[in-house]
Amino acid sequence: MKAFTDLPFVRDFVRLCSIGDAQGFHERNGGNLTYHLTAADVKAAKAVLKGRKPGPWEDVELTKDVAVPSFAGEWFLATGSGKFFRNVAYDPENSFALCELDETGSRYRVLWGLAGGGRPTSEFSSHLMNLAVKDRVSGGKVRVIYHAHPANLIAMTYVCPLDDKSFTRALWNTMTECPVIFPEGVGVVKWMVPGGREIAVKTSTLMDRHSVVVWAHHGLFCAADTFDNAMGLMETVEKAAKIYMLVLASGRKPVSGITPKGYRAIAKRYSVDIPEKYL
Ligand code: 13P
Ligand code: ZN
Repeated sequence: MKAFTDLPFVRDFVRLCSIGDAQGFHERNGGNLTYHLTAADVKAAKAVLKGRKPGPWEDVELTKDVAVPSFAGEWFLATGSGKFFRNVAYDPENSFALCELDETGSRYRVLWGLAGGGRPTSEFSSHLMNLAVKDRVSGGKVRVIYHAHPANLIAMTYVCPLDDKSFTRALWNTMTECPVIFPEGVGVVKWMVPGGREIAVKTSTLMDRHSVVVWAHHGLFCAADTFDNAMGLMETVEKAAKIYMLVLASGRKPVSGITPKGYRAIAKRYSVDIPEKYL
C-alpha cells in the first residue's frame, strides 16, 4: 500500500524543502512552508491514512479577529516549528505535519507527522491568513505559501528604501524577466517581531495585491499555485537581489537601466499588467 509520503503533493512539498536547503535559503530552522490540499489531495490522503487516530485539537494561536473561518475543515501540510528544512526529506515524519482545521478555522489537529511532538511553524497564522486572502483573490488557485531567509534579499533590505515602489523598481531593474515573473511588484513590511498576529495581518493585507512580500531584515514570503512557482518566485527575487548587491559592491554608479518606456514595451510583449504607479 502507498505510504503518505508517496502521495504526489507530499513528494512535491518535500522536494521544495530539499531545493530550498540546497540553495542555502534555510539556516537551522529558518523558513517555513504551507500547502493547502485540494479536494482530490484530501481524498488521496484519507485513503492512505485510513484508521489512523488524529491528535488532539490545539489553538492555531489566532485571535478571533484573525481566524480563518473560510478554511473551516480544510487540510494543510506545514513544516514544524523549530524543524530544519535539511531534515524534511531525511526524516519527514518528524519535520512536518498534515493538519486539519476545525469548524471555526481557529484550531487544528495533526492527522499525520510531528511524530515526536511539536507544533506547525510559528508563522502558521501568517501562512493561513495569506492563503485565505490569496484563495479569495485567485478563485482557489493559490495553494502554497513559502517563507525563506535568502541572504542577498535580506542584505538588500539594509540599503534599499523600504517602500513598495523603491523595492519593486530596484528588483525589476536588475533583470528584464523580473517584471514578467512578478508584474504586481513586491510588498514591503518594515521590521516587525515575527511569529505574531500583527505581522500576520500586515503581510496578508499586502498579499491582496502581491505574491511576494519582503520582511525587512528577515526574509521573503512567496505565494503561488504550485510548488515550482513558489520556488521560482523565491529564486528569481533572490537572484535579482544578488545582482542589485553586486552592482552596489562594484562601487560604480549604474550608467544605464530599464526605462518606463521599456517596462511598457515588456508589458505589451508579454501581455502582463505592469502598474503605472511603479514606473
Ligand atoms: P519556525 O521554525 O517556527 O517555522 O520559524 C522559522 C522562521 O523562519 C520564523 O520566521
Ligand atoms: Zn523567518
